[in-house]
Amino acid sequence: MKIKEIYSLAINKGIEADFRGKEGMERLLKRRKEKFEKLSEKEKEEFDNEALENPFLDSRILNINQDKEIKKVLVGIDVEPAEILLAKEIGGIDLIISHHPLGKGLANLADVMELQCDVLNQYGVPINIAEGLMKERIEEVARGVNRVNHQRTVDTTKILGFNLVCLHTATDNLAAKFLKDKIEKEKFERVEDLMNFLKEIPEYKEALKFGAGPKIFAGDLERRCGKISVAEITGGTEPSPKIYEKIAQAGIGTIVGMHMGEESRKEAEASNLNIVIAGHMSSDSLGVNLFLDELEKRGIEVIPCSGLIRISRLDKK
Ligand SMILES: [Fe+2]
Repeated sequence: MKIKEIYSLAINKGIEADFRGKEGMERLLKRRKEKFEKLSEKEKEEFDNEALENPFLDSRILNINQDKEIKKVLVGIDVEPAEILLAKEIGGIDLIISHHPLGKGLANLADVMELQCDVLNQYGVPINIAEGLMKERIEEVARGVNRVNHQRTVDTTKILGFNLVCLHTATDNLAAKFLKDKIEKEKFERVEDLMNFLKEIPEYKEALKFGAGPKIFAGDLERRCGKISVAEITGGTEPSPKIYEKIAQAGIGTIVGMHMGEESRKEAEASNLNIVIAGHMSSDSLGVNLFLDELEKRGIEVIPCSGLIRISRLDKK
């Protein structure tokens, strides 16, 4: 496979798993195209054309040094210059894949957050409330990523001659779909049942060994789950702390998330929500692994690094 094929496969898998459905994705791209057509020539020049084809702008091809057949990939949750040097040390690495966004992928992180409006709406939060609260938060995230050194790792790949892509929401969607399908099938009564279920998923089981297993941030093992939401497994990053009161009012009892800040945790607790934090690196690994299985299936060797807990599900299928 060539880099563009690997990348397209990731985007297509992400679209297939997206909670908005294929139709929702098509509507989003159609709307972007309509808005693009109305831009002035000057605005069109500045426009990120990738947005017309790819709904996940935090997942990008960042550097093509040599467009060759990819046989061996180095994959990490966070790829920094240290991982690029690591690739050089290992040798024979055809492509480096970062999960967390870098370069223009990071600059566009806030763009994927509108996914959360639709998903919150599917869980019963009125769309106007979801959009209102997310708008504020999306702007905050956009300003937050504005100050960082976006190109640092990309520059390192250019100097050392590596190929680099980042796949963020494209693979987070796979983790979210995987967890949603299983959780909806099981119908857990108590938080304890949900915790036991999570601890049996290999990535979380592995994370438990080094102290990063699933944790209860609000509620306790005895509490009843009620309706469980996995809305926070995908969609860029955490929503506004103000959303938790609305989520509780919409009839959700328990949230399964990857990570949660203290302000959000307090708000969720005040709204009597149970918060189960499955784990950050482990949840990211789950989504990345589901995609890496696709690459392995096609004969590509995967070398995990930087927090990726590599679990292959190929033999179990
Ligand atoms: Fe993450």
